[in-house]
Amino acid sequence: MQLTILRYDTIDSTNTEALRQARLGAAEGLVILAAEQTGGRGRLGRTWVSTKDAGLYFSVILRPRFEIQYFPLITLMAGVSVHEAIEGFGLNPDLKWVNDVLVGGKKISGILAEATETPSGTAVIVGIGVNLRSFGYPPEIVGTATSIEHELGTVLDAEAVLEHLTKRMIKNWNTLNLSDGPEQIRQNWTNRSSYAYGKRVVAVTDEGKVNGTTNGIESDGALRITLDDGTIRVIRAGDVEMVRAA
Ligand code: BTN
Repeated sequence: MQLTILRYDTIDSTNTEALRQARLGAAEGLVILAAEQTGGRGRLGRTWVSTKDAGLYFSVILRPRFEIQYFPLITLMAGVSVHEAIEGFGLNPDLKWVNDVLVGGKKISGILAEATETPSGTAVIVGIGVNLRSFGYPPEIVGTATSIEHELGTVLDAEAVLEHLTKRMIKNWNTLNLSDGPEQIRQNWTNRSSYAYGKRVVAVTDEGKVNGTTNGIESDGALRITLDDGTIRVIRAGDVEMVRAA
């Protein structure tokens, strides 16, 4: 995958722009990068506050060559890439299903993957936000968010973080497109996540909240949970709240 980077000072959302470009026929590898987003979007309809120069905000267009059942693994592939890049900066990150990268239990990066039909087939937009600086947080996330500046005691430049991260992503994207790629990414994610097994969770599903313990990742990236009554539930949509072991 060859990257072409389009840089914006300010934009509504790099994901929204990448969706627009993909629908106009943009090739795999187009990256939309912005210093600031006025309408940054998170998962489940949430807002991703994107203060100027406080974070790395970018989206990349991918054109998967594998079956749709494995599309959820694209988010996991991106999570692994962010994890590897942040580890490379000397930090000790963790992955929380499905898209959170944490340091010291606090969120340092989030990933929003969105698929769209285009004249040249299905495209998946992977949008990544990484907190670089410790300012501009909305009050509701002050206690649960962290930044590279806070953890490392140094400010890293958005372009430098982008370069490290996209290198990892190109490698992991090539892997995911191999015949055993989905399994390799599933294993890589599992090895990097303390949340894959044995974590007490409350899963928020369409049918309400269920309590259980994480029990690995399915071949398509879904989360397996053993409920307190012993039954196994596979969570594909919704959100998961991790709770401390008693
Ligand atoms: C989440 O954790 O809920 C996902 C957050 C994803 C934020 C990134 S920032 C770049 C890209 N553009 C957006 O509007 N969202 C993603």
